[in-house]
Amino acid sequence: MTYASAVHDGTRTPGLYTYSPRVSSWTVRADKPVTYEIRFCTDVLGPEHTDLATAGGTVGGTRRRIVVIDENVELRYGDRVRKYFKHHDVDATITVIPVDETVKNCDTATQVIRDIDRFGIARRTEPIIAIGGGVLMDVVGMVSSLYRRGTPFIRVPTTLIGLVDAGVGVKTGVNFDGHKNRLGTYHPADLTLLDKSFLATLEHRHVSNGLAEILKMALIKDDRLFTLLEESGSRLLDGKFQDDSGEADEALTRAIHGMLDELQPNLWEAKLERAVDYGHTFSPTVEMRALPALLHGEAVCIDMAMTTLIAEDRDLVTTGERERIFTVMRKLRLPTWDPVLDPDLLTNALRETVRHRDGKQRLPLPRGIGDVVFVNDVTPQEIDLALARQRDLGTSRAEMTGGPDGNGHRTTTPLRSSSKR
Ligand SMILES: NC(=O)c1ccc[n+]([C@@H]2O[C@H](COP(=O)([O-])OP(=O)(O)OC[C@H]3O[C@@H](n4cnc5c(N)ncnc54)[C@H](O)[C@@H]3O)[C@@H](O)[C@H]2O)c1
Ligand SMILES: [Zn+2]
Repeated sequence: MTYASAVHDGTRTPGLYTYSPRVSSWTVRADKPVTYEIRFCTDVLGPEHTDLATAGGTVGGTRRRIVVIDENVELRYGDRVRKYFKHHDVDATITVIPVDETVKNCDTATQVIRDIDRFGIARRTEPIIAIGGGVLMDVVGMVSSLYRRGTPFIRVPTTLIGLVDAGVGVKTGVNFDGHKNRLGTYHPADLTLLDKSFLATLEHRHVSNGLAEILKMALIKDDRLFTLLEESGSRLLDGKFQDDSGEADEALTRAIHGMLDELQPNLWEAKLERAVDYGHTFSPTVEMRALPALLHGEAVCIDMAMTTLIAEDRDLVTTGERERIFTVMRKLRLPTWDPVLDPDLLTNALRETVRHRDGKQRLPLPRGIGDVVFVNDVTPQEIDLALARQRDLGTSRAEMTGGPDGNGHRTTTPLRSSSKR
């Protein structure tokens, strides 16, 4: 007779257990291989291109799809989407949802679930198609993972954050009770089709927003990418990545490759020291506090400015390097300061992140340009010092755009009250 211990030492084939009256505990182990593809496409909605039309299968000889599309994308590309599926003989139902960060929530997810349910999707062969930015893809991704405990889905990102970040990994999610991505799952899209021509209609502010995540990749692991942003960042932003000089493609490819290089060995985040979390220590709280004034990438940039200053104070980054980093942030028209910043907010943000990282700061800091170190001992005093310097050196969005509080007038950062030290 074989006992449970044989399972514990890994000698048994998973799933084959022999009954014994002496067994009082079972440990089940199974491996789930994951394969997903991210593919560059030119003109994905062009009738001659079949990448999107042929992904997935048919039921009874019919190719049916539910396509969930961001309202702003539908406005600009809806006709082409309908013509594309018609041309390829795909019976497509288009579901349009208005999305932005303020409605990245359970209600929007429920609305999508209702549409999918009404459509009556086949479980394995009719992947849900998501066309939109990071918010749309995060919501549809979460819905796909929940619906019948997992339904395949396909992503077509239409924003820069979507192309280089949200459309690359396996994370899905919605905000909950003022907390960023508090609910979510790990659920890879089977296929992601990257077509940078969508960026042509994106507002410049959203291009800057995506450039923040590209800058993140440059700072943590790719000094060549940093030089590229230093030399050509403004041009890429102005031209919305549409020029054929090769720089746009190089920046996209390097950012995506760098991201996948970090994600693949740690897809389920077993390891909580993640270089790609750079810029995401303080930013989730800052973003939600400032909502809707700051976009995701803007909050990430403000976090990177703060942590660059902490790194400079620790001699991990030279003053010259810090100046280069701040100059690139300015060129990419990203804010490096926001009036919501104050010591208590940042300390709370760090406390939240420590919980998220299972009890330790595991805080990535830049080491020079293109490398990263993790620290666990950032103090409130260090945050105060960095914040005071950030207030002097940084530029808020209002100052950049000449908005109401953009006339050189600065909201004063309150000093940390001594009782809270
Ligand atoms: N899952 C992940 O790994 C991951 C990674 C990074 C970011 N994110 C999430 O992504 C979100 C940010 O994504 P985002 O910046 O794409 O925001 P978004 O989805 O809100 O899109 C930005 C704006 O652009 C509009 N839009 C989209 N495509 C357009 C186009 N081609 N032309 C014109 N307008 C267009 C949208 O309607 C929206 O108003 C955040 O919620 C963030 O948490 C997720
Ligand atoms: Zn991010």
